[in-house]
Amino acid sequence: MKALRVGLCGVGNVGGAVLKLLKESSSLLEQQGGFLFELVQVGARKGRSVVPYDDVDVTTDLMEVANNPDVDIFVELIGGTEFADELVQTAIRNGKQIVTANKALLAIKGDEIFQLAKQNNVQIGFEASVAGGTPVIKALREGLVANKVEWFAGILNGTSNYILTEMSVEKTEFSLALSKAQELGLAEADPTMDIDGTDAAQKASILAALAFHVPFNFEAVNYEGIDKVDVEDLKYAEELGYNIKHIAFGRLLDNSVFVSAYPTLVPHEVILSQVGQQMNALEIYAQGIGSTVYYGPGAGPEPTASAVVADLVDLAKGGWQAEPARHSDNILRQESSIKVPRYFRLMVKNEPGVIAKISAVFANQDISIEALIQHEIKVNNGEQTDEVPVVILSGSVSDQIVKELLNQLNDMEEVADCLKQFRIHAKIN
Ligand SMILES: NC(=O)c1ccc[n+]([C@@H]2O[C@H](COP(=O)([O-])OP(=O)(O)OC[C@H]3O[C@@H](n4cnc5c(N)ncnc54)[C@H](OP(=O)(O)O)[C@@H]3O)[C@@H](O)[C@H]2O)c1
Repeated sequence: MKALRVGLCGVGNVGGAVLKLLKESSSLLEQQGGFLFELVQVGARKGRSVVPYDDVDVTTDLMEVANNPDVDIFVELIGGTEFADELVQTAIRNGKQIVTANKALLAIKGDEIFQLAKQNNVQIGFEASVAGGTPVIKALREGLVANKVEWFAGILNGTSNYILTEMSVEKTEFSLALSKAQELGLAEADPTMDIDGTDAAQKASILAALAFHVPFNFEAVNYEGIDKVDVEDLKYAEELGYNIKHIAFGRLLDNSVFVSAYPTLVPHEVILSQVGQQMNALEIYAQGIGSTVYYGPGAGPEPTASAVVADLVDLAKGGWQAEPARHSDNILRQESSIKVPRYFRLMVKNEPGVIAKISAVFANQDISIEALIQHEIKVNNGEQTDEVPVVILSGSVSDQIVKELLNQLNDMEEVADCLKQFRIHAKIN
């Protein structure tokens, strides 16, 4: 059996696990995948100290791997968008097939890279870039290739999901839940891109390119992170029959594609609301088949390595017919005009007539109020407080109108503060 010659760059969490799989499970891979993989060269800037296999050729010059004529498949696992881009583009120009787990690289430079790959007649495997070990890219590229995707909604960042689960179940404040995630190794030392929504938004833009055949364009994704959610919001959501999840959402409406990633109230009866801890899940709605749901580990060295190696096997078998961002009439648009139901939490003066005045502001903007909670708050001596929280669930409204509404509410003497505004996941179809 002819071996496929692999060159791997980056021996960190994922690279280390891929190395281990290729070196220690080669007979299983041969048995199940039907191919032998030969690790020709590993690029690690720390050198041999991070590669525990004496028979592997290690170089500290990663570009050497991208230029190595003995390498058939180039695996990029260094992360980032600058040097990783140089490495990948060099390897493509040298005619190598590519496997990467790098969502940032694809979300930001995916179009350029895929065009170059097309010119050089090579393919790119990127299963590990979204939902780690859960094969959602394969579902879109292959399983659903006969169906027109209308929308997808997913929990794509395990760190955010773990934190929101802790906040919801244990009533732990955000900062403590984040510290716990870091202690358990579920959050990076610098968790900014997980917490502010960037990571999920990058993954959403990759899914949108595949699902709706539009260019990779991270700029077109509107997003916010979970740092805006308080335990208080999760309690109100629960009372109203919802959980709060960070939802990456993509939708095709006529020929327009809208992509976003926001903390979102998800009704208890929707499967995504039940996805807890660090798990990932993606619901894809396609014509002819309806909803399919994919659930599993979204990160971690072993699950991610399993996706990387699955791509190696697929490439060995000839790769994929359906390429992302192939020509279509669909256009990516900023989704500020899309209407969705909303959750609002305000602090208002505790005096008669306030609710009627707030309702009038909603009515003036033609926004319905579907539910409203106002609990009496008493201080220690039993007296009522001067200000009370009011939670409102509204009908569908666009970002533009929300902005106007919030300006009007903020101008009201009776409104002390507009604390929060989140989207509500509305089941489409
Ligand atoms: N970790 C996960 O669960 C997960 C899940 C899905 C996808 N991914 C993706 O997989 C990729 C790798 O992630 P990871 O968690 O394995 O990261 P990591 O542990 O930080 O490993 C990255 C490795 O690449 C090396 N590296 C980084 N920049 C380099 C440069 N400019 N030149 C040479 N070497 C460089 C680092 O070397 P040093 O050790 O010398 O710093 C390190 O060994 C990323 O694209 C990430 O988004 C990760």
